[in-house]
Amino acid sequence: MSTLKGRIAIVTGASAGIGLEVARDLVAHGARVVLNARRKEKLVEVASGLPADAVAVEAGDASDLGVIRRMLDRARGAFKAEADLIVINAGRGLNGSVMTSDTTQWEEMVRTNYLGCAYLLREAGHRMLAAIGGVTGPACVASPRDIIVLGSTVGRHVSPFSSMYGSTKFAVHGLVEGARRELGPKGIRISLIEPGFVESEFQGVAGYDRAWFEGVKERIGPVLQPPDVARTVTFIAQQPPGVHVSDILIRPTRQDYP
Ligand SMILES: NC(=O)c1ccc[n+]([C@@H]2O[C@H](COP(=O)([O-])OP(=O)(O)OC[C@H]3O[C@@H](n4cnc5c(N)ncnc54)[C@H](OP(=O)(O)O)[C@@H]3O)[C@@H](O)[C@H]2O)c1
Repeated sequence: MSTLKGRIAIVTGASAGIGLEVARDLVAHGARVVLNARRKEKLVEVASGLPADAVAVEAGDASDLGVIRRMLDRARGAFKAEADLIVINAGRGLNGSVMTSDTTQWEEMVRTNYLGCAYLLREAGHRMLAAIGGVTGPACVASPRDIIVLGSTVGRHVSPFSSMYGSTKFAVHGLVEGARRELGPKGIRISLIEPGFVESEFQGVAGYDRAWFEGVKERIGPVLQPPDVARTVTFIAQQPPGVHVSDILIRPTRQDYP
């Protein structure tokens, strides 16, 4: 598969789980990457394991417009060109339904999962359009530009155990498809990845009962690991500029539902 040499990426939620492995895999394939998450010390640790000239850190809340603008500026400052590969991955789960989930977590979840995604999509979209510079028709896909968003299997199939979280991902899926229809014809690929169960910090943050998750692993395991999802991000970005893998749903083999 083709190299990602020359690509400049931003990965949100790169301090753990899927985002961390996405950042590592992109760098392994030749990309330079700006890492974002709130825990700066974790990002610095991740960066220390990667070639210094391939990585930059911009810590902060990925739903904050100021932080988003700083990430994009940082890519330009560190790597001397506008980012052309944005991975909108920062997100969090929440155990329970609209009836049972912890309402004190709702605003943070909606802000992180939905608004953060929308703000970054918009900011990155405008900068990519400016970089394309009004070129139209087939020539506007001369080089690849990607915005890749982490949705979820539960953003497509309603899950009874986390339907409040799932509803934020349903919204994200709608946002992504709308943006794909708007920006695809202008030369920007907007892609959605919908993972099933992935073992990461996600389960703890979401407040899943540990015994329940162990039961899930027993019933449908082995569940996915973050590198399994990271490979799909790299695969999308590796496609020739005129080819768009716009949607990947990836589940553990034995996951029947959702
Ligand atoms: N695990 C699954 O089963 C699964 C399935 C489908 C989809 N997904 C989606 O995949 C994405 C990554 O999940 P994961 O499994 O890798 O979870 P994870 O291990 O909990 O990692 C989440 C990452 O997002 C960061 N983050 C959270 N809120 C943030 C914010 N406001 N601003 C910046 N960074 C933030 C966290 O770092 P800090 O705490 O340092 O900020 C961490 O790096 C999420 O969008 C999730 O919804 C996960």
